[in-house]
Amino acid sequence: MGAYIGALDLGTTSNRFIIFDREGRIVGLDQKEHRQIFPNPGWVEHDPLEIWENTQAVIQGALNKTGLQGSDLVALGITNQRETTVVWDKTNGRPFHNAIVWQCTRTADICRNLEKTYGQDGFRQKTGLPIATYFSGPKIRWILDHVPEAAEAARKGTALFGTIESWAIWWLTGGPQGGTHVTDVTNARRTLLMNLETLDWDPEILEALEIPAGMLPRIVPSIDPNTWGHTLRTGIFQATVPVCGALGDQQAALVGQTCFQPGEAKNTYGTGCFLLLNTGTKPVVSQRGLLTTLGYQMRGQKPVYCLEGSIAIGGALVQWLRDNLGLIRTAAEVEELARSVEDNGGVYIVPAFSGLFAPYWRADARGVMVGLTRFANKGHLARAALEATAYQTRDIVEAMNADSGVALTTLKVDGGMVVNDLLMQIQADVLGVPVVRPKVTETTALGAAYAAGLAVGYWSGFQELTRNWAQDKTWEPAIDAARREEGYRYWKKAVERTFDWVD
Ligand code: G3P
Repeated sequence: MGAYIGALDLGTTSNRFIIFDREGRIVGLDQKEHRQIFPNPGWVEHDPLEIWENTQAVIQGALNKTGLQGSDLVALGITNQRETTVVWDKTNGRPFHNAIVWQCTRTADICRNLEKTYGQDGFRQKTGLPIATYFSGPKIRWILDHVPEAAEAARKGTALFGTIESWAIWWLTGGPQGGTHVTDVTNARRTLLMNLETLDWDPEILEALEIPAGMLPRIVPSIDPNTWGHTLRTGIFQATVPVCGALGDQQAALVGQTCFQPGEAKNTYGTGCFLLLNTGTKPVVSQRGLLTTLGYQMRGQKPVYCLEGSIAIGGALVQWLRDNLGLIRTAAEVEELARSVEDNGGVYIVPAFSGLFAPYWRADARGVMVGLTRFANKGHLARAALEATAYQTRDIVEAMNADSGVALTTLKVDGGMVVNDLLMQIQADVLGVPVVRPKVTETTALGAAYAAGLAVGYWSGFQELTRNWAQDKTWEPAIDAARREEGYRYWKKAVERTFDWVD
């Protein structure tokens, strides 16, 4: 069997291509950030063509750095920012509009109208999700409402919808010349259009949103030996590499962390922050604002479900301190700045930049910074920013413990922010449980590689992957319960200050 597996990680902030070996070690990596486009307050877009160009550039970059060729890759896995919506012309690959990013709140009116008819949880039984601006369905509706050319193409059957993995797979397998139009089941679940039971598009919800079924991709398992296509000999890989693994990035991190047993959980600290708990082959419908989501599915097997707590703003708050306030020059500097003070000095930041996601689901919320006095300095702001991520995670853990009836005993972490040792200590303190970081923190890309490698038999099964997982470091809680609860009480007060801001 050939040598390596390639994984494309198409995230919110950057696109990466990583090459892994059989032990799950990184052999080569290239990465490129793409533009974040903010046309109005609360609106977020990406340029889909820039993402496709960067995708090709990072593939080339990683191959060049390692001296490997496309033909050295046994299979290709893809993972992606979920929910972000592209609608394009299948005759030429031209997007009808910029991609509407998962964080974008422009569909608030569409959601409000749906809620009036169906209630916020009107689709929860079928989809496991509340009606919220986060998901793709309302974003498709917005494009069809605002771009007449897209609406016309949708009527004629020449418009295609896809989340980012779908968009990339279509291009990689031929684009306008017969590219495969598929989406994996974990991504499909995030559209608000897929039925939990049938694992197919739900005709009633499509009707409610007036979305033609013809523009939607075919839903495929995340790990699929019946490949959905090959890369082209004439394309960027110059080889026919099977594309046979795809997962939303949070589900990919779950697989990369080898959380294959019910009760195992991970938290990924990226642009946002996403905690997923494996609940086995039966979906658990949350009573406390968590999402019922699909973890992964292997062809011919039952899907594995998760409870998910989604936080819209995690690392993005650090980016905001860097790009919008100029408080730090690089994201890494936030740790040093936060270490310059003993504690938060009474300051709390709640980054409700896209409203608040789980467990609150408040589209009307906007960010606040509270507890300011003349004592507060930029060190306190940096510390409050890190604490915001830790406290938002605590909100999720509280809901998850209550929903599942089982208290979390340790938290496996990964993602870009976990290099920040101070954040990890704060997280352990705020939760009161140990936080464990694995040796490979690129678990998102690793999970996509695992999906593709399992599909082609490069790895024998979950047991072999679990043996690859190795611990790097553990942080134990270092503050007493009284201090922990006092901090959390103030956090809850701060959260309340964000509500009812947008009319
Ligand atoms: O649901 C959105 C999520 O998939 C984005 O992940 O890693 O880009 O914050 P990330």
